[in-house]
Amino acid sequence: MEIDWDELRAAAYAAMGKAYAPYSRFPVGAASWDGEAISTGCNVENASYGLGLCAECVLAGNQRIRSGARLIAVSVCDSRGAILLPCGRCRQVLYEFGGKELLVDHPAGPVPLGELLRDAFGPDDLAAGRT
Ligand code: THU
Repeated sequence: MEIDWDELRAAAYAAMGKAYAPYSRFPVGAASWDGEAISTGCNVENASYGLGLCAECVLAGNQRIRSGARLIAVSVCDSRGAILLPCGRCRQVLYEFGGKELLVDHPAGPVPLGELLRDAFGPDDLAAGRT
Protein backbone atom coordinates (compact mmCIF):
# COMPACT_ATOMS: atom_id res chain seq x y z
CA MET A 1 0.00 0.00 0.00
CA GLU A 2 1.22 3.45 -0.92
CA ILE A 3 2.22 5.68 2.01
CA ASP A 4 2.19 9.42 1.39
CA TRP A 5 5.04 10.42 3.69
CA ASP A 6 4.83 14.08 2.69
CA GLU A 7 1.16 14.19 3.72
CA LEU A 8 1.96 12.39 6.96
CA ARG A 9 4.80 14.79 7.78
CA ALA A 10 2.53 17.76 7.02
CA ALA A 11 -0.13 16.33 9.37
CA ALA A 12 2.48 15.85 12.12
CA TYR A 13 3.66 19.43 11.65
CA ALA A 14 0.09 20.78 11.84
CA ALA A 15 -0.50 18.76 15.03
CA MET A 16 2.73 20.14 16.48
CA GLY A 17 1.13 23.58 16.18
CA LYS A 18 -1.51 22.48 18.70
CA ALA A 19 1.00 21.28 21.30
CA TYR A 20 0.68 22.42 24.88
CA ALA A 21 4.31 22.58 25.95
CA PRO A 22 4.80 25.64 28.17
CA TYR A 23 7.25 23.83 30.47
CA SER A 24 9.67 22.18 28.05
CA ARG A 25 9.01 24.67 25.25
CA PHE A 26 9.53 21.67 22.98
CA PRO A 27 6.36 21.16 20.93
CA VAL A 28 6.00 17.78 19.24
CA GLY A 29 3.55 16.55 16.62
CA ALA A 30 2.81 12.99 15.51
CA ALA A 31 0.75 11.52 12.68
CA SER A 32 -0.16 7.98 11.70
CA TRP A 33 -1.55 6.25 8.62
CA ASP A 34 -3.54 3.04 9.06
CA GLY A 35 -4.92 2.49 5.58
CA GLU A 36 -8.16 4.25 6.47
CA ALA A 37 -7.27 7.55 8.06
CA ILE A 38 -4.55 9.89 9.18
CA SER A 39 -4.65 10.45 12.94
CA THR A 40 -2.61 12.98 14.87
CA GLY A 41 -1.39 13.89 18.33
CA CYS A 42 0.63 16.59 20.07
CA ASN A 43 2.36 16.65 23.43
CA VAL A 44 0.21 17.87 26.31
CA GLU A 45 2.21 18.91 29.36
CA ASN A 46 1.09 19.54 32.92
CA ALA A 47 2.10 21.76 35.84
CA SER A 48 2.74 18.47 37.58
CA TYR A 49 5.62 17.79 35.17
CA GLY A 50 5.61 14.00 35.28
CA LEU A 51 2.01 13.86 34.07
CA GLY A 52 2.83 15.28 30.64
CA LEU A 53 1.68 13.25 27.65
CA CYS A 54 3.89 12.63 24.64
CA ALA A 55 2.50 13.35 21.19
CA GLU A 56 2.51 9.63 20.32
CA CYS A 57 0.34 8.76 23.35
CA VAL A 58 -2.21 11.39 22.38
CA LEU A 59 -2.04 10.03 18.84
CA ALA A 60 -2.75 6.50 20.08
CA GLY A 61 -5.99 7.61 21.73
CA ASN A 62 -7.09 9.72 18.79
CA GLN A 63 -6.36 6.92 16.35
CA ARG A 64 -8.53 4.52 18.38
CA ILE A 65 -11.43 6.92 18.10
CA ARG A 66 -10.89 7.77 14.47
CA SER A 67 -10.28 4.32 13.02
CA GLY A 68 -8.73 1.70 15.28
CA ALA A 69 -7.17 -0.08 12.29
CA ARG A 70 -3.65 -1.48 12.60
CA LEU A 71 -1.00 1.26 12.34
CA ILE A 72 1.04 1.19 9.13
CA ALA A 73 3.19 4.34 9.30
CA VAL A 74 4.06 7.05 11.82
CA SER A 75 5.88 10.35 11.53
CA VAL A 76 6.89 12.58 14.47
CA CYS A 77 8.38 16.08 14.29
CA ASP A 78 9.67 18.95 16.37
CA SER A 79 8.89 22.69 16.11
CA ARG A 80 11.06 23.04 12.98
CA GLY A 81 9.37 20.12 11.26
CA ALA A 82 12.50 18.02 11.72
CA ILE A 83 11.85 14.30 12.12
CA LEU A 84 11.99 13.04 15.72
CA LEU A 85 12.33 9.42 16.75
CA PRO A 86 9.78 8.36 19.39
CA CYS A 87 11.08 8.04 22.96
CA GLY A 88 11.37 4.57 24.47
CA ARG A 89 7.98 4.61 26.14
CA CYS A 90 6.29 5.75 22.96
CA ARG A 91 7.99 3.00 20.95
CA GLN A 92 6.27 0.54 23.28
CA VAL A 93 2.93 2.35 22.97
CA LEU A 94 3.20 2.29 19.17
CA TYR A 95 4.25 -1.38 19.21
CA GLU A 96 0.90 -2.29 20.75
CA PHE A 97 -0.95 -0.94 17.73
CA GLY A 98 1.48 -1.54 14.87
CA GLY A 99 3.89 -4.26 15.93
CA LYS A 100 7.34 -4.68 14.46
CA GLU A 101 6.23 -3.97 10.89
CA LEU A 102 5.08 -0.43 11.69
CA LEU A 103 7.14 2.00 9.62
CA VAL A 104 8.57 4.88 11.64
CA ASP A 105 9.82 7.97 9.86
CA HIS A 106 13.57 8.47 10.16
CA PRO A 107 15.98 11.05 8.65
CA ALA A 108 17.67 8.23 6.74
CA GLY A 109 14.33 6.85 5.51
CA PRO A 110 11.48 5.02 7.26
CA VAL A 111 12.49 2.06 9.45
CA PRO A 112 10.39 -0.79 10.87
CA LEU A 113 9.61 -0.39 14.56
CA GLY A 114 11.18 -3.82 15.14
CA GLU A 115 14.57 -2.20 14.44
CA LEU A 116 13.98 0.57 16.97
CA LEU A 117 12.59 -1.76 19.65
CA ARG A 118 14.25 -5.12 19.22
CA ASP A 119 12.85 -8.22 20.92
CA ALA A 120 9.96 -6.14 22.23
CA PHE A 121 7.63 -7.30 24.96
CA GLY A 122 4.11 -7.43 23.58
CA PRO A 123 0.62 -8.94 23.70
CA ASP A 124 1.87 -12.39 22.62
CA ASP A 125 4.13 -12.63 25.68
CA LEU A 126 1.15 -12.01 27.94
CA ALA A 127 -0.87 -14.69 26.21
CA ALA A 128 1.98 -17.19 26.57
CA GLY A 129 2.76 -16.67 30.25
CA ARG A 130 -0.65 -16.12 31.75
CA THR A 131 -1.66 -18.62 34.50
N1 THU B 1 8.02 14.25 23.65
C1 THU B 1 7.07 13.70 22.84
O1 THU B 1 5.96 14.22 22.71
N2 THU B 1 7.40 12.56 22.16
C2 THU B 1 8.61 11.94 22.21
O2 THU B 1 8.79 10.88 21.62
C3 THU B 1 9.71 12.57 22.95
C4 THU B 1 9.34 13.70 23.84
C5 THU B 1 7.66 15.44 24.41
C6 THU B 1 7.52 15.20 25.89
C7 THU B 1 7.73 16.60 26.44
O3 THU B 1 6.47 17.28 26.42
C8 THU B 1 8.67 17.25 25.44
O4 THU B 1 8.65 16.43 24.29
C9 THU B 1 10.11 17.36 25.94
O5 THU B 1 10.60 16.13 26.34
